[in-house]
Amino acid sequence: MEQKAITFTIDGVEIKGSPGQTIMQAADEAGVYIPRLCYLKDLTPHGSCRICTVMVNGRSQAACTQPITEGMVVENNTDALDEHRRNIVDMLFVEGNHYCMFCEKSGNCELQAMAYRLGICAPKYPYLFPQSNVDASHPDILIDRNRCILCGRCVIASRDVDGKNVFEFVGRGPEKRIAVNAEAKLSDTDIDVTDKAAQVCPVGAIIKKRVGFAVPIGERLYDKEPIGSDIESKKNK
Ligand code: FES
Repeated sequence: MEQKAITFTIDGVEIKGSPGQTIMQAADEAGVYIPRLCYLKDLTPHGSCRICTVMVNGRSQAACTQPITEGMVVENNTDALDEHRRNIVDMLFVEGNHYCMFCEKSGNCELQAMAYRLGICAPKYPYLFPQSNVDASHPDILIDRNRCILCGRCVIASRDVDGKNVFEFVGRGPEKRIAVNAEAKLSDTDIDVTDKAAQVCPVGAIIKKRVGFAVPIGERLYDKEPIGSDIESKKNK
């Protein structure tokens, strides 16, 4: 038996979704972009970055994990929520060492693109300049922990898609960092450059070697259109 569609609103616009969908999934299908950094289609949502926070019937919820219900009233595109998102992005920038002008992910980086979309032009908080390290031991992949935003995509992709559990979080608070399931180095793990975990990093923390500048800066994904444009373009089809 066909399941009845669920009708709800986002910013006053009626959206129809299917039972079991999250707000994010239904919004994506309807061409409504909700900002996100840790969520990636095809990976289990885990609600860690909170960029996707929306108001649901007046209460804040993570759109990537909150299921839709009949008649729910969702606010997404508001000044208050964008300010909340800007604060998170601002903190992510100063908690790491992000030198966009020298980073080979520039133009394809979701953090950088999110900052542009949200109108961030200058740092709001003092830089923390954490001591982080680079693991370039693997022949095909490297980890630059200076750029890691602890989104957890690599952890989930390696666990659920690759079945390898190469990555995990260790430490707490400011000491939290991404680690590998080996004595010391990435080269001691069984990660392969074709693994999903090597493809999903939103920033330049896990990158493939020797392809960083295959597409010149200025011609990359977010050099050409703001992040979220692919979803918003569905609305007009
Ligand atoms: Fe929902 Fe990160 S995208 S918490």
